[in-house]
Amino acid sequence: MNHLIDEYCKALHLPTISKKWSSLAEQASKNNVPYSSFLCSLLEVELAEKQERSMQTLLKLARLPFRKTIDEFDFTAQPSVNERRIRECLNLSFMRQYENLVFLGPPGIGKTHLAVSIGLQAIAAGYKTYFISAHDLVTQLRKADQENRLEQKPRTFVKPSLLIIDEMGYMRLNDSGAHYLFQVISRRYERGSLILTSNKSFGEWGEILGDTVIASAILDMLLHHSIIFNMEGESYRLKEKREKL
Ligand SMILES: Nc1ncnc2c1ncn2[C@@H]1O[C@H](COP(=O)(O)OP(=O)(O)O)[C@@H](O)[C@H]1O
Ligand SMILES: [Mg+2]
Repeated sequence: MNHLIDEYCKALHLPTISKKWSSLAEQASKNNVPYSSFLCSLLEVELAEKQERSMQTLLKLARLPFRKTIDEFDFTAQPSVNERRIRECLNLSFMRQYENLVFLGPPGIGKTHLAVSIGLQAIAAGYKTYFISAHDLVTQLRKADQENRLEQKPRTFVKPSLLIIDEMGYMRLNDSGAHYLFQVISRRYERGSLILTSNKSFGEWGEILGDTVIASAILDMLLHHSIIFNMEGESYRLKEKREKL
């Protein structure tokens, strides 16, 4: 019978039950566990493994630059960001309302860390998430355009429930970069959430994007439903280094 169980598990794609049923069955008979509880525990182990696998897949697909959680963020070192507001974002209600989060401020103060930690929370809740720098997003779309794939490519950036566009403003997005960014943001508008980080104030976006008309159209959509964190302070790493000296 044992080999039949394994065979049925294989046919039904139940690898965890296949792996664990015999030790669970042994325990169950030792402890006089009712049949229904035994069945329930089999299904539970399969479900837990399945959820773990899909979270690992979502994590891989998200291409986060690092995996840091909110518990690794030192709020006392960053008084310009309100911990309660960040914790509210972690309940992901902004995603259910298709709102955007924007983190603004100088380099090294934890903008990407906060964006990533909220991304991790979204992944844990089962949301498809994708992380990309503004520069890479534009480069990929430009390449797709040159290869006549511009119709399909934006899907990578439109399909995820949460798109994180990092480092807006570190590099100028010349050569129709603004146009590509506009395409992605307009297609996601009121359909999915964005998290954006930038070291430039909104007033400087015209310059970064090399096109003030598109910049204001992008800002118009982006800011319509958004929660903005204006951050300041000195680079966390530099501060840490100085304090060690
Ligand atoms: N308040 C903080 N608590 C803990 N680590 C921090 C904090 N601020 C920044 N860091 C760390 O410093 C480094 C730079 O932060 P990052 O989020 O990349 O900055 P930014 O995106 O604003 O340039 C990262 O390793 C990040 O985890
Ligand atoms: Mg950053």
